[in-house]
Amino acid sequence: MTTTRPPVLIHEADVAEHFAGIIGLYQAHGWTHASDPARLRIAIEHSSFAVVALEGTRVVGFARAMSDEAFAVYIADILVAPDRQRQGIGRTLAEAILHHYPMDRFHHQVLVAERGAEGFYRRLGMVPVTSFGLTAFIRSGR
Ligand SMILES: CC(C)(COP(=O)(O)OP(=O)(O)OC[C@H]1O[C@@H](n2cnc3c(N)ncnc32)[C@H](O)[C@@H]1OP(=O)(O)O)[C@@H](O)C(=O)NCCC(=O)NCCS
Repeated sequence: MTTTRPPVLIHEADVAEHFAGIIGLYQAHGWTHASDPARLRIAIEHSSFAVVALEGTRVVGFARAMSDEAFAVYIADILVAPDRQRQGIGRTLAEAILHHYPMDRFHHQVLVAERGAEGFYRRLGMVPVTSFGLTAFIRSGR
């Protein structure tokens, strides 16, 4: 017997509806955000724009961004369910955010890439800040 998966659709995230699925993605990747659900919920609610990838009712991907809504956008997290990676979902989520903050207005689209995700961002056309003769600085509690 063969089963057909529903198509993956991108929607603006609804925290009330999608939070359980979203935190499941952070858990699946072992990200520390999942250890404090209330704090993660605040982070998502205060993000400027957040999208989910839904396969039926299952949340198989999530991405969020913070912006001043004028010049700059910072992409915070992009997560795809481990069993749904390399199927174009991450690209679709990232493009939903990048299109929401188009380059003709938002001249700074920035993010910090996790180890192992650099190639993914390069495939999206993003380049290290050093390509522009710039240096990125970070103060991290890790
Ligand atoms: C990184 C991540 C979001 C990518 O999502 P995905 O759905 O697997 O990526 P896609 O299938 O949309 O891939 C888009 C392109 O990037 C490439 N790609 C994906 N992951 C890659 C990786 N880790 N390294 C190099 N290239 C990668 C794909 O081959 C594809 O290339 P193509 O355009 O030539 O076909 C996903 O692997 C993930 O959730 N990782 C764990 C969480 C994480 O580290 N997120 C990044 C936070 S900074």
